Amino acid sequence: MSGDTALEVRGLQVSVGSGHAVKGVSLGVRAGECLGIVGESGSGKSLTLRAVADVLPRGVTRAAGDVVVHGRSAMVFQEPMTTLNPTMRVGDFIAEGPRSRGVPKREARRRAVELLAEVGVPDPAVRARAWPHQLSGGLRQRVMIAAALAVEPSVLLCDEPTTALDTTVQAQLLALIDRLRAERGMAVVFVSHNLAVVSRVAQRVMVMYAGRVVEEGPTQEVLRRPRHPYTQALIETIPRRGVAAGQLTTIQGAPPDPSEEFTGCAFAPRCARAEDTCTSLRPPMLEAVPGHTAGCHFVAAPRAIAPSKEGV
Ligand SMILES: Nc1ncnc2c1ncn2[C@@H]1O[C@H](COP(=O)(O)OP(=O)(O)O)[C@@H](O)[C@H]1O
Ligand SMILES: [Mg+2]
Repeated sequence: MSGDTALEVRGLQVSVGSGHAVKGVSLGVRAGECLGIVGESGSGKSLTLRAVADVLPRGVTRAAGDVVVHGRSAMVFQEPMTTLNPTMRVGDFIAEGPRSRGVPKREARRRAVELLAEVGVPDPAVRARAWPHQLSGGLRQRVMIAAALAVEPSVLLCDEPTTALDTTVQAQLLALIDRLRAERGMAVVFVSHNLAVVSRVAQRVMVMYAGRVVEEGPTQEVLRRPRHPYTQALIETIPRRGVAAGQLTTIQGAPPDPSEEFTGCAFAPRCARAEDTCTSLRPPMLEAVPGHTAGCHFVAAPRAIAPSKEGV
């Protein structure tokens, strides 16, 4: 099945009342592939994912675009406690998926225990009878993943599923998501504000800024040769060995409000390389090398793009 397109999104726009928080996002994910979406808080990652899953918050609407899911999609959120039902034992919560498809109660419960085992919950038959508040954050997130798998999704949508967890538990969950993708041949879309986290699960990465895609390519290629100054700046913020936290670069300024509309590049006000053309003309997505694109006027420039002082 690997190689088949599982999810296609074209020209997605999401309006939030004050403006468009997602301003024309297109993406495609194949079965067995994980696409990472990264960008600062407010860049439109969650609304993109929620639009795909058709679970937009009240007052937020899909204004334009096509979403095609080949099969079913299921979503895993950052905070499992807000999604789990506190009045249901976790096994029964997971069993709701199979139950809704007509599977008899006993069989659905047996399936829930199998799923808990599949996502690495120890003593699954015992844990199936636990209430959500009796489980650790890491186990709760495993329960959410099991509940997502219970609908037999072809596309798993993950919105910062490990952000609230400590680094050890986070690493275990990233390994779990990676294993499930490979074993089940699922397409995964993994959203995080943290490029380092995304790079551990995603074969391909898409960088969003102010509701638009500004760079996309194979993860390692984007990390080694970022073409957009914003991606470059994101990489500079990743903690590295030998660099004290206080020495890490932070991106100056703040992302714009979704109600702001730009004639040119939305990143220009924060970009060290910006020239007049950047504020007057929106850069198209340019192909740097096959499969690696970036929306910057200087993608084709021979000099390396770095967030240095050499700009204007
Ligand atoms: N329910 C909502 N109502 C109004 N505006 C929203 C809502 N949810 C998100 N937004 C706005 O849309 C923009 C993108 O939000 P979101 O997709 O959650 O960003 P991200 O997940 O990248 O942090 C933000 O500026 C945010 O303020
Ligand atoms: Mg978000």
